[in-house]
Amino acid sequence: VPDARVFVTRRLPGDALQGLVASCTLDIWPHPAPPDEKALREHAAPADGLLCLLTDRIDAALMDASPRLRVISNLAVGVDNIDLRAAADRGIPVGHTPDVLTDATADLTMALILAAARRLPEGIAAVSEGRWGAWSPDWLLGLELHSARLGIVGLGGIGQAVAARARAFGMEVVHSSRNGGVPLPELLHTADVVSLHCPLSAETHHLIDAGALAAMKAGAILVNTARGAIVEQSALAHALRSGQLAAAALDVTDPEPLPRDDPLLQAPNLIVLPHLGSATRRTRERMAELAAENVRAGLAGEPLPHQVQMSVQAGIRPAPEGDQCPT
Ligand code: GLV
Repeated sequence: VPDARVFVTRRLPGDALQGLVASCTLDIWPHPAPPDEKALREHAAPADGLLCLLTDRIDAALMDASPRLRVISNLAVGVDNIDLRAAADRGIPVGHTPDVLTDATADLTMALILAAARRLPEGIAAVSEGRWGAWSPDWLLGLELHSARLGIVGLGGIGQAVAARARAFGMEVVHSSRNGGVPLPELLHTADVVSLHCPLSAETHHLIDAGALAAMKAGAILVNTARGAIVEQSALAHALRSGQLAAAALDVTDPEPLPRDDPLLQAPNLIVLPHLGSATRRTRERMAELAAENVRAGLAGEPLPHQVQMSVQAGIRPAPEGDQCPT
């Protein structure tokens, strides 16, 4: 496809894009901040392919303004930033980057579970603020992971990888997913730690709302490395303030970045990371490779090697949890 054009919405780590240079003209957004809606629209307008990020909203209007578009390749496993139905209606395949980020994201989830359970932020703050007194038998006592119950919501690749790690720590693991496990209310009621690993969809938007938080075991910990909007943040802030939850640890929020004055950031016992689930050099380079492979195949009119199935795109079938879980 010699005269094909591809808009890449950010510079990518590694050299995955080199492989595309021979087959198309690349327009790479050079700035660290994402293109705004207008710039995205302008650069996508003449494009045959789009290599986009989870920060780019790819909706029907954008697709209609890009009449040549024949592949959308998301540098993420989650595809909630893309109107999948609109893409399916227009016959545009959507690619994503499953599996390669599973271990990195599961590792980060364990880091958050440990940090919240063992109260690392409070300990770190005590040392840096000069409040480290004599060793004390009852200072900063936390939750021991061994024999504690971990409730995993959404058992795709990442949920399974977290389960394996948690079992190595001696945790008792239960899960709740569309395809089985225990009912969500039972999981919420009995788990010491609840960790979210389901994709964001209409079905999971605000899945963890005030009612779900109230159903959680008193003093439990909530961890979210999936998507921010799965949790109703005002209800979470309330549950932390009231002490219903001992702590929450989030790698994702709604919106991202969370404004400095967002009321959630005033809640006690809250850890927030800036969406680092897949942030290892190796994983990001592999994500870029998968995204580039998807673009190449899409331009050539071949099935994408890592494609969100058209039936899923069209909403005919729900996303299989095994390869659709966003981090
Ligand atoms: C990141 O959040 C991803 O979905 O890959």
